[in-house]
Amino acid sequence: MTVHFVTNEKIAETSSKGNQEKWQEGGRWYKLDQFGYEGLAETVISRLLERSSIETDTPFRFVRYRIERMNVHGRDRNGCSSANFLQPGESIITLSHLFKREGLPLNKVLPRLPSDKQRVAWLAGETAALTGLAQFPQYLTLLFEVDALFLNDDRHLNNIAVLENNGQYNYCPIFDNGAGLLSNVQLAPMDIDPAALIRSAKARPFNTTFNRQMIYAQNLYGPQLHIPTFTEAALRSELEEPLSYYAQRDRGFIAERVCQTVLTRQKQFKRQR
Ligand SMILES: Nc1ncnc2c1ncn2[C@@H]1O[C@H](COP(=O)(O)OP(=O)(O)OP(=O)(O)O)[C@@H](O)[C@H]1O
Ligand SMILES: [Mg+2]
Repeated sequence: MTVHFVTNEKIAETSSKGNQEKWQEGGRWYKLDQFGYEGLAETVISRLLERSSIETDTPFRFVRYRIERMNVHGRDRNGCSSANFLQPGESIITLSHLFKREGLPLNKVLPRLPSDKQRVAWLAGETAALTGLAQFPQYLTLLFEVDALFLNDDRHLNNIAVLENNGQYNYCPIFDNGAGLLSNVQLAPMDIDPAALIRSAKARPFNTTFNRQMIYAQNLYGPQLHIPTFTEAALRSELEEPLSYYAQRDRGFIAERVCQTVLTRQKQFKRQR
């Protein structure tokens, strides 16, 4: 089935890497691929997270994404969708917004701290204090682990959020992992060896290596993500359906990059635990 969209239904969002076009319809949010195969990355990452114990062992949740074919401005395009996770009366407050509202703009406060480890501790502790979410430090650690495993380099301070309902806060389901798996072929060009791209990738929001950002948080709050090691066969089987949405000529290239990213990163990930 193809979902039809036109420009005037577009919802604008600010982002550091430009924003994917998105629409809300029938209780679902739709996002269009922008720089590569983001829809496939969201879909595959959320399916792999299904095998983790996030929702059985922690109070945290993650958004399920589904690959989509959409007719946008008269053209058939790829993207993904997710069920609206907001309950009536609930709104999403990004950390950027939360701290600005408190007169503590993060782009001013964080650079003043002397080290990345202190920045992680400050952000985790202050968010917990402001919201009353005592396990926010564990939530942040989990986010950094998910990003480190899938190489999601777009965890800016609008992609970390809490939910608010009448002054009461709750944990936001983990969302927007679509920059993972080297999906952005503009920033991660096709002519560069994926191994080199993986080695040089930098994690947000602290602009350090993925391992460091994850280890700082794990050392402070303990490891949170329990997920099996994936074989190449398991990854290829997960890729089959979403790959069928992309042009035949791109499928081998996408599958190769996705497998290499997860197989490389999970070795690092296990080593750090
Ligand atoms: N399933 C959903 N339920 C509720 N709100 C959603 C959902 N998906 C997206 N949103 C809203 O849209 C915003 C942007 O979503 P998302 O971060 O996935 O898009 P994006 O274009 O990849 O973002 P960016 O490029 O700005 O990081 C979220 O902060 C949230 O407000
Ligand atoms: Mg986002």
